[in-house]
Amino acid sequence: MKEYKKLTNEVGAPVADNENAITAGPRGPVMMQDVWLMEKMAHFNREVIPERRMHAKGWGAYGKFTVTHDISQYTKAKVLQPNAETEVFIRFSTVAGERGAADCERDIRGVAVKFYTEEGNWDLVGNNTPTFFIRDVHNFSDLNRAVKRDPRTGRRSAQNNWDFWTLLPECFHQITVVMSDRGIPASFRNMHFFGEHTYSFYNEKNERVWCKFHFKTQQGIKNLSNEEAAKINGMDREYHGKDLFEAIERGNYPKWTMYVQIMTEEQAKNHYENPFDITKIWRHKEYPLIEVGVLELNRNPENYFAEVEQSAFTPAHVVPGIGFSPDRFLQGRLFAYGDAQRYRLGVNHNLIPVNQAKGDVSDYHRDGAMRTDGNYGGAPAYAPNSSGYWTAQPETAEPPLELEGAMWRYDPKDDPTDDCFRAGGNLWRVMTEDKKQILIENTAADMASVTENIRYRHAAHCYLADHEYGERFAQAAELRMDRVIELAQLDHAGLIQATLSDII
Ligand code: HEM
Repeated sequence: MKEYKKLTNEVGAPVADNENAITAGPRGPVMMQDVWLMEKMAHFNREVIPERRMHAKGWGAYGKFTVTHDISQYTKAKVLQPNAETEVFIRFSTVAGERGAADCERDIRGVAVKFYTEEGNWDLVGNNTPTFFIRDVHNFSDLNRAVKRDPRTGRRSAQNNWDFWTLLPECFHQITVVMSDRGIPASFRNMHFFGEHTYSFYNEKNERVWCKFHFKTQQGIKNLSNEEAAKINGMDREYHGKDLFEAIERGNYPKWTMYVQIMTEEQAKNHYENPFDITKIWRHKEYPLIEVGVLELNRNPENYFAEVEQSAFTPAHVVPGIGFSPDRFLQGRLFAYGDAQRYRLGVNHNLIPVNQAKGDVSDYHRDGAMRTDGNYGGAPAYAPNSSGYWTAQPETAEPPLELEGAMWRYDPKDDPTDDCFRAGGNLWRVMTEDKKQILIENTAADMASVTENIRYRHAAHCYLADHEYGERFAQAAELRMDRVIELAQLDHAGLIQATLSDII
C-alpha cells in the first residue's frame, strides 16, 4: 500500500508549504517565485475538457459478459463463442442535458458498452429504446440543436423540440416511446437497452447474416412519473449515478440478458420495409429473440474523470465476426465518434487506460500529443517493410457485400414501402389503458407551451398511427377533431404547408 504522506510537485520534488503564499514581507504582495502556487493555479485552469456534444452527463461501471448459448453458426467473434467471458466497461448517459444536468429527465438514455475482447475492443454504443428518432445522418446535428439550448434565450425549448420532431414524421415511433411511461427510467438498472441499428455477423465459413442486439434487464422495468422525477431532481440531481454506484458497492450486481435477432440476406431482400432503417423495428414474431449471454456490472471506477469522463466509445470499433450494415445512419456514426474524441481527448485517446485494448496493439500510428507509451521504440514506422513487422490479416476480412442502384440522394419517404406511423400505431395498440393515459397526459404536458399549429401537426400524425391515439391526444391538447382529420388526409408536404404558421 502506498503511503499517502508526502506532498510533491508535478515532477516529484517536495512541497514545503501548501497554504501560505511567499510574500514580500508579512503583509506584502505574492512573489513570482512561489512556483508551486503558479503550478497549482495553472493546472487548475486547465482541468476542464470539452464535454461530449451530446450524452454529456453519464455514469460508468465495469463488469463481465458471459456467453451462455451457442450462436457460432452466425458469428465467429471470439467474444460471442460459448462460455467466453469478457471484461466490459459501460457508460450510461442522458442525451440532451449538459454535464451538470439532473439525471431524472424525460429523455432517452445512452448505453455504451466496451467489450475488451482478445481480438481487440468491440464497442456497442446504443440506447434504451429499440429505434431512433431520425434515419439520415444529415439530420443528426439538427436534432441535437433542436433538443439542446435555444440560440437566443439559452434555454431549452419545447417549441424547437416539437417543431423539429413533427417536421420529420419518422420521429413518430420514438416520440411515442419517449412520452410513454418509459420516458424516465427509475434507474439505469431497471431499463432494457438496444444496439438499435442493424449490424452484421459472419461465421467461420464467411456467411453473413444481419442482426440486432437487445439487452433485457433482469431487475425488471421500473419508471418514474413526471411528478416523482421532479421531486427527485429537486433533492438529488445525481440520483441514477448514486443508485448504480451504491448497488454495486452493496454487491447487488445488475444484470442484463443479451439477445440477438437474426435476418438472412435473402429475408432482408424480401422484407416488407427497409430492414436497415433505424426508425423501424423487426417484429419479434418474425425474427425471434435468440438468447446469447449475460452482462453483469460488478465494479465501480476508482476515479470518475479518469475512467468515466475520459472513456471513448465508437461504433467503428468492431472485431472479426461482427460488421456494419448499409444503414445510412450507422455509416455516419462510423466517422463521428473518433472525430469527436480526437477533439475532446486528443489523437492518442486510446492510450488512456479505460480505452486501451487488453491485447497487443500494433497499428503503426506514431507520435501525436500525449503519446504516453513507448511510441513503438525503434520499430519501423512504415509498411510494407522488410523487417517482418505487422502485416495485414486478410483471413479476418468480412465477406463482400453486393449493392445495387445508382448513386443518388434518396429520400426514404419516396420508398413506397415506407410507413412512418406503423410502429407507433402498433405500440399504441398493445398498450394497456393506463399506459395509454400516461402517454396522452405526458405528451399534452410536454406540448403545453408549444404553438397550436405544431400540436395539430402531431395530432394528425397520432391519428394516422391510430384513430383513437389521435382523438385522445386532440382532446387532451384542446384541438378540433374535424381539423385533425382534415390535416391527416394531406400528404406529408401538404400537412407541413398547412401547419407552418400558428393560424389554423
Ligand atoms: C448519425 C447519427 C449519430 C451521430 C453523428 C452521433 C454522434 C455522437 C457523438 C459525436 C458523440 C460524442 C462522442 C464522444 O465525445 O465521445 C455521441 C455520443 C453517444 N451516442 Fe451518438 N451519434 C449518432 C447516433 C446515435 C445513435 C443512433 C445512438 C444509439 C443507438 C447513439 C448513442 C450514443 C451514446 C450512447 C453516446 C455516449 C457514449 C459515451 O457514453 O461516451 N448515437 N454520439
